[in-house]
Amino acid sequence: MPSSYYVQEVFTPSTQARLNFVDRTSVNSQLMDAIYTAGKQLIVYGESGCGKSTLLMNKLHDTYSSYITTRCSKAMTYEQLLLDAFDQLDPFYTQGRGSRSSKGISPTVQAAFIKVSASISKAESEQQSRALPLQLTPQRLAEFLGAQSMCWVVEDFHKMPPEQKVPFAQSLKIFSDASTEYPGVMVVAIGATDTAREVVEYDPEMGNRVSELYVPPMTSEELTRIIENGQDLLNINLSAVAEGIVEYSLGVPSVCHQLALNACVEKGVMSTQKVRLAFTWRDLDPAVDRYVKDSSDTIKAKLFRALGRRVLGKYDNCRIILAAVASGPLPGMIFDEILTKIRSDHRDYPEKNLRRYLRELTKDERGQLLKPGGDGKWRFTGAIYHTLVQAMLSKPRQAAPNPSPQQYVEQAVARSWADTVYSSPTLGNTVFSDTTGTYTLDMKSYFQPGFTLYGTTAVTVSSNSLEPEKPALYQAPARRTREPK
Ligand SMILES: Nc1ncnc2c1ncn2[C@@H]1O[C@H](COP(=O)(O)OP(=O)(O)O)[C@@H](O)[C@H]1O
Ligand SMILES: [Mg+2]
Repeated sequence: MPSSYYVQEVFTPSTQARLNFVDRTSVNSQLMDAIYTAGKQLIVYGESGCGKSTLLMNKLHDTYSSYITTRCSKAMTYEQLLLDAFDQLDPFYTQGRGSRSSKGISPTVQAAFIKVSASISKAESEQQSRALPLQLTPQRLAEFLGAQSMCWVVEDFHKMPPEQKVPFAQSLKIFSDASTEYPGVMVVAIGATDTAREVVEYDPEMGNRVSELYVPPMTSEELTRIIENGQDLLNINLSAVAEGIVEYSLGVPSVCHQLALNACVEKGVMSTQKVRLAFTWRDLDPAVDRYVKDSSDTIKAKLFRALGRRVLGKYDNCRIILAAVASGPLPGMIFDEILTKIRSDHRDYPEKNLRRYLRELTKDERGQLLKPGGDGKWRFTGAIYHTLVQAMLSKPRQAAPNPSPQQYVEQAVARSWADTVYSSPTLGNTVFSDTTGTYTLDMKSYFQPGFTLYGTTAVTVSSNSLEPEKPALYQAPARRTREPK
């Protein structure tokens, strides 16, 4: 009998994929090289959500018998970083957990660990804040990790205050040197940045002992694999919705997982099906609806921050720029294209304004709706924002008689947001306050109830001409949760 899985194990929008992990072939060999080269330390970078943590977790799981992870924050100090690692090593030394039994570990290392441990507990019992005991040097930590053949993953290292990063950067050399005695010991620093240098500014002479691994956004093929693996694991057929989901994910795997998960949940697929169940295009509607509703607080905050400005100068810069970028394709536009687009409406729009406000719009205080891609293009931080800003600010486009899968999802997103704005008492409010300020925006003035992105002639759900041109697939009657409209 084939195995049965829960849908939450298969589609994992907010946790690291394990069962449905898709290999990242473009980065695999560099990663494996870093893991297997003694003394190599690793810096992993790439935009948030592209799959850095998941990749590391899966590969370390395959190659290390155990590893520890420390998560950094803005307030973290270097001392806290070392202490956190030490704390996590404790069960391996005191309870014999982990790869080798404590017997395999040299008594000197064992004794050293106990000694450090005792000095920490003493500090705690004296009600002092946890100061770093003198004995807990990076050398010691490297030794404690090395003796257990363990790897130390430092997540979100880019968030650490710059002055706290310096000693860590210096200690990379120490970890590298420890490899002569303990070949397995490795530190991995992960950061959501565009360059490795923004994660760790390490000593240039460490150049050949540090591997910088860039994890790119997922390709459409990789995203498609997530869907295909998922449908095999759950014994369902997602081919009717796959393309729309993949295109709308824009390289971000969590969106792909989320839309697929929503589609399953809305169709009542909670685990592997006994009889293969086929999805239709229509199943995207409730999936998208749930996606939009679940994100409505975030969407609201971002739109208000970006568009609800109080002081207006000659130009309403953010609005002008967002409208221009939203009029372009989902993957974004380069600077010159945006400028040309803006100048077709505002002939004298200054280039320096565009430069300045593009940057502004990447900041949290302005809703962080835009981001620059590695390809020089400026795009929205998620397709959902592209669609909504397009619906609000750009002239509606005329859709082809047969919408593409992407247009179908765009339409569903816009319609769902219009419904949400009208049905929620708080979303209709024109004033919004949060920690960054007070903003005014009348969301309703942009959307009529039942709003359609492409005008009335185009995408209407009842039209039969919109049936997918795919062969009719068997759909178990017992499993059908919604009548086709
Ligand atoms: N290789 C992969 N295969 C399948 N799903 C993945 C893969 N990489 C990431 N994901 C999914 O994408 C989302 C974000 O991944 P994550 O590793 O947290 O990104 P990052 O650490 O770069 O911010 C998670 O929902 C995860 O399940
Ligand atoms: Mg991560």
